[in-house]
Amino acid sequence: MKTLSLILCAAFSLGVAAEVNYQVVPLPQQIDIDASGKYAVLAEGMTVSYPADNAQMKRNAEFAAEYFGLSAKPADKKKPAEVSLTLGLKNDNPDAYCISVTGKGINIQGASESGVFYGIQTLRKSVMNEQGEVHLPYATVSGAPRFGYRGTELDCARHFFPVSFVKKFIDILALHGINRFHWHLTDDQGWRFEVKALPQLAEKASVRPHTIIGKNIGLRDPANAIYDDTPETGYYTQEEMREVVRYAAERYITIVPEIDLPGHMIAALSVFPHLGCTGGPYEVWGVWGIADDVLCAGNPGTLEFLKTVYGELCDVFPGKLIHIGGDESPRVRWKTCPKCQAKMKELGLKEEAQLQTYINKEMEAFLSKRGRQIIGWDETLEGGLSDKAAVMSWRGYEGGKAAAKLHHQVVMTPTSHCYIDYYQLKNHDAQPLAIGGYLPLSKVYSMEPVPDGLTEEEAKYIMGVQCNLWTEYVLSPDHAEYMLLPRLAAMSEVQWLQPEAKNYEQFLGRLESLRQNYRKLGYKYCSTNE
Ligand code: ACM
Ligand code: ZN
Repeated sequence: MKTLSLILCAAFSLGVAAEVNYQVVPLPQQIDIDASGKYAVLAEGMTVSYPADNAQMKRNAEFAAEYFGLSAKPADKKKPAEVSLTLGLKNDNPDAYCISVTGKGINIQGASESGVFYGIQTLRKSVMNEQGEVHLPYATVSGAPRFGYRGTELDCARHFFPVSFVKKFIDILALHGINRFHWHLTDDQGWRFEVKALPQLAEKASVRPHTIIGKNIGLRDPANAIYDDTPETGYYTQEEMREVVRYAAERYITIVPEIDLPGHMIAALSVFPHLGCTGGPYEVWGVWGIADDVLCAGNPGTLEFLKTVYGELCDVFPGKLIHIGGDESPRVRWKTCPKCQAKMKELGLKEEAQLQTYINKEMEAFLSKRGRQIIGWDETLEGGLSDKAAVMSWRGYEGGKAAAKLHHQVVMTPTSHCYIDYYQLKNHDAQPLAIGGYLPLSKVYSMEPVPDGLTEEEAKYIMGVQCNLWTEYVLSPDHAEYMLLPRLAAMSEVQWLQPEAKNYEQFLGRLESLRQNYRKLGYKYCSTNE
């Protein structure tokens, strides 16, 4: 092993090895490069140290070792490592990091373990495109995200994605400094969450016998749709999901699992028809859109079913937020269902929307006993929000704004800027079939998550922002990556940067280097900027 003094060259750049500039996505808040021209060398075979007896820092060091070809070891004052990972950065933001490259070596310090992880990612993206030995100019490089909730949603109900891809998706989030994975697990077209007490869900409700082809005439008319004859199947066992939780946690990503209620439930109704207002029969849906059939709000079995499902959901997913869906749930069946009408009478409710609030409140009470907080789509505002519910604003900014004014936490994800299932290029022939819309990279980048018209106090309730990848028309992992990248890069700057630090032209320059990172990592991406 070479000694530290040999490796930390107080030399001027001779143009032999590549010299990096730390200009990555998301852009650090500060990049101060020393005018001396001195640099430290980062090369395979060096050592990265971490504070002994901190398991998360050990794992961080193992990531650094893997990315840079180093060996990880506990810190030893007598034998300092070339790269050191430390805690204790003074910053109220736990995700803050500071990389210092000096004559003493390369130090990545975090305000917490997650901050160290983000510092490692910044260094990783800085050096990934270089071969062999890399010169790191003496510098101070620091960053901290604007929002605490930085999410991305993946719909695994419309099309099933195997655990191997879910892990790759998590790797992609980690590369972009994203810390919430909103996992959409159930829908009309397939149930993917194993419930041990109700095995029919995994066994049967996960099977869609056939799927509408393209966008033929029957999209909203199941009886007249033209279908393929390829069943779409798949579910996640609890063991698999626990493994995904562990994998995500190592990368400082918390999973927000979603079981959508009371609508988007046809797959569940196909095995429990008595939970629908008409009693069925129902079939796992092979078309896309909004179904009139939803859970019956007046049937006591409905709450019993939901508590069984969400009880097991809590056993698998330890994160605080549990997504209860709540979107696109027509109330037409409730209007004519004797059980739903009797329930409204019993509770003294004036309109059907309040029945949804009744279910939400029951679920909130159930989940808060388990230390959880509910989050739902902005339709949950319609019959009145339950006490502590957070809101995901998707039909625009208005729902989120109204919720913030009521002092409820909000995640912004309006279709206008965050729906990455939309086309990313104007020319439809240059990209795979998509659900519609047009959301170019530049539009994602332009997003401002905090709407006008909120006081400073109210604006604090905007806890973050996410983009959503619905998969009606996303049939494969490669296609999912293409839809994500590079729009996720634009989203990560929305999530990390203060508005005054954003600059689209400059971002496009840094994005080219990130695209090279994608190539190195074997990710599929769109290579055109619009
Ligand atoms: C949604 O896109 N239906 C939340
Ligand atoms: Zn009913």
